[in-house]
Amino acid sequence: MGAFIEAIDLRKTYHVGKIEVPALRGISLSVQKGEFVTVVGPSGSGKSSLFYLLGGLTRADSGKVILDGEDIAALPDSERTRLRKRKIGFVFQKFNLLPTLDARSNIAIAREISRNGNNDPAFFSRITELLGLAKRLNHRPSELSGGEQQRVALARALINKPAVVLADEPTGNLDTENSTIVLQMLRQSNQELGQTVLMITHNPEAAKYGDRIIHMRDGHIVKPEEDPQWAARD
Ligand SMILES: Nc1ncnc2c1ncn2[C@@H]1O[C@H](COP(=O)(O)OP(=O)(O)O)[C@@H](O)[C@H]1O
Ligand SMILES: [Mg+2]
Repeated sequence: MGAFIEAIDLRKTYHVGKIEVPALRGISLSVQKGEFVTVVGPSGSGKSSLFYLLGGLTRADSGKVILDGEDIAALPDSERTRLRKRKIGFVFQKFNLLPTLDARSNIAIAREISRNGNNDPAFFSRITELLGLAKRLNHRPSELSGGEQQRVALARALINKPAVVLADEPTGNLDTENSTIVLQMLRQSNQELGQTVLMITHNPEAAKYGDRIIHMRDGHIVKPEEDPQWAARD
């Protein structure tokens, strides 16, 4: 099937005043279509920076991201935005729901934004049932628990059946029960729809839901035995 997501020698340094903060020091990876890959590594190792670049949310200093055959940095902003809306579902640690909209509208808005006309009420019902949200759809985020908010955010990410799901610490603020629901849903969606999933996590239990684990440290991809957190667990 070939690589669906390919990163080639990605480099990114942040500039804070006169200080340079290197975040990615040459990352190359490739994720096959339909693969579920998890990315682990200590805090500050560059995981979120990688997530933003792979999702076309920020630009690299150098290197390339090829998504489904398209070099996303080479696209004009408007095209890149379109590609993102059409092909990628995002899940963030902090949910990022719209506070004034109820759960139903928070999910539905993703469909309107993508404008792919994919209005499939049966799929909406199925996703919200599977995520245990059927009775919570008329509530605003402030009336929902953290776990419920993340389940809404996941429904929003999946509602357009995106080819790629990118998740940055999706269970970082959740209890075990809600983490399990979120992880199982990601896995199920990956298997049923052949979605390519890249999930960042701190949690070795969560990382097991994927097919393969990528370890990061100090802006590099490293071998598992070079990841101190990981090595300490066995
Ligand atoms: N917007 C930013 N401005 C300055 N430094 C940043 C910014 N975002 C991240 N960094 C720095 O880049 C490095 C990698 O951060 P990040 O990609 O968030 O790692 P992780 O997600 O693994 O914790 C860290 O040293 C972090 O402090
Ligand atoms: Mg992070």
